[in-house]
Amino acid sequence: METVNVAIVYYSATGTVHALARAAAEGAEKAGADVRLRKIAEPAPPEVIDTRPEWAQHVRDTADVPVATVDDLAWADAVLFGTPTRFGNPASPLRAFIEAAGPLWFQGKLADKVYSAFTASNTAHGGQESTILALANTFYHWGGIIVPPGYTDPIQFQSGNPYGASHVAGEGPVSEVALQSARHQARRVTETAAAFKTGRAA
Ligand SMILES: Cc1cc2nc3c(=O)[nH]c(=O)nc-3n(C[C@H](O)[C@H](O)[C@H](O)COP(=O)(O)O)c2cc1C
Repeated sequence: METVNVAIVYYSATGTVHALARAAAEGAEKAGADVRLRKIAEPAPPEVIDTRPEWAQHVRDTADVPVATVDDLAWADAVLFGTPTRFGNPASPLRAFIEAAGPLWFQGKLADKVYSAFTASNTAHGGQESTILALANTFYHWGGIIVPPGYTDPIQFQSGNPYGASHVAGEGPVSEVALQSARHQARRVTETAAAFKTGRAA
């Protein structure tokens, strides 16, 4: 298989999406990809973060995760974006990062890559699908190849979310089903990107 570069770019305040991102990184690595796991820089000031101990703890726990730059998008053959649902939409720090990629888009350097997304919400019907679909709007603008997990693996019938891996944070720690779904999604993204890369090189 052609080696593919997979960037996993995520925002997480309290660690749920981070756990899914790590699982996605495992899935992509296992499928043979070179992986960059990158967090979106935390824009909130320390006094706001400190109002929630779990938020402050997560910032400390992930201090060693490199911060995403638009160069990571340019490098990647495939990008998986992770974000919490915020009022049914992607979190604004991720949106700010995406908007900073405007010059790259203008140069045509975001087209023809494989894109996929995963998310978390606090409640079961709190906007997971709308969040992932909102990100897909951007993938269309970029001329991306959208690769959702669908029901392409038995784990998807347990996760129940064909749009992307997801977890309901209000139900407790990230479940093994959600982690397996993220691994599967990243594997599928990697294999699809590899097929495109091999085909284009031929
Ligand atoms: C401003 C804000 C808006 C949110 N909106 C929603 C929402 O629309 N639906 C929902 O179920 N949860 C909502 N949540 C909860 C987050 O989705 C949840 O805390 C998040 O998925 C946890 O992910 P994290 O641990 O990676 O930060 C919201 C949280 C914040 C801070």
